Amino acid sequence: MTGEIIIAPSILAADFSRLGEEISAIDAAGADWIHCDVMDGHFVPNISFGADVIKAIRPQTEKIFDVHLMIAPTDPYLEAFAQAGADIITVHAEAGPHLDRSLQAIRALGKKAGVSLCPATPESAIAYALDHVDLVLVMTVNPGFGGQSFLEPQLEKIERIKTMIGDRPIRLEVDGGITPDNAAVVAAAGADVLVAGSAVFRGKGVADYGANIQAIRLAAERGRIPKRQDNAAQRMRVSDGGRSGRPA
Ligand code: DX5
Ligand code: ZN
Repeated sequence: MTGEIIIAPSILAADFSRLGEEISAIDAAGADWIHCDVMDGHFVPNISFGADVIKAIRPQTEKIFDVHLMIAPTDPYLEAFAQAGADIITVHAEAGPHLDRSLQAIRALGKKAGVSLCPATPESAIAYALDHVDLVLVMTVNPGFGGQSFLEPQLEKIERIKTMIGDRPIRLEVDGGITPDNAAVVAAAGADVLVAGSAVFRGKGVADYGANIQAIRLAAERGRIPKRQDNAAQRMRVSDGGRSGRPA
């Protein structure tokens, strides 16, 4: 599960009165995954939706359902989310004392297992979980609400987790306050899955959502250009007086 940049719109920012249409719109607009934020009013100070809503919208698209559980406890509900049609189920490292058990339970249900870290949780919390996960989700806001500002100190954590992951086939996802303005730095730090709610569901319908997704994707891809290659390109632009065509 590694490779190209993935854009995962969070349906938390969708118009809930037209949720089915909104899913179809982001599908047609080029979303790679559909990010579903499940909140319980206990682990986080907000309530969103549960497995029945996910089951109801599942037929709207064939895209991967990336289900982010901001709930505690998690284990009693994993089977319900698996049956509702989740492809990836992510639990929080802070949600309970037995992270390893939760991750094994997700894989036993035949789903990809993810682990998420709140901003104040250090990367060491998942050091011994990495052989049991398919995805690490770094929260770049405090979970609970859409539309918050990106927390820049998390960039260092993303870099450290990228190093910890090494060659393992693990996706590194960022979630919270992602916009075209910071997509490049999160990708440069090592993130390859970008969740965005408010920055995608801006405007109305497929055309606007498509432009929003594309702006984030292009910025992230630009951020991913290896530094050495970037410096070489920079030197080329200087030495040929800018004739290579790319803006300096
Ligand atoms: C926060 C959620 C995020 C959030 C993203 O608790 O996990 O997925 O909705 O929304 P924006 O992109 O608006 O920060
Ligand atoms: Zn989320």
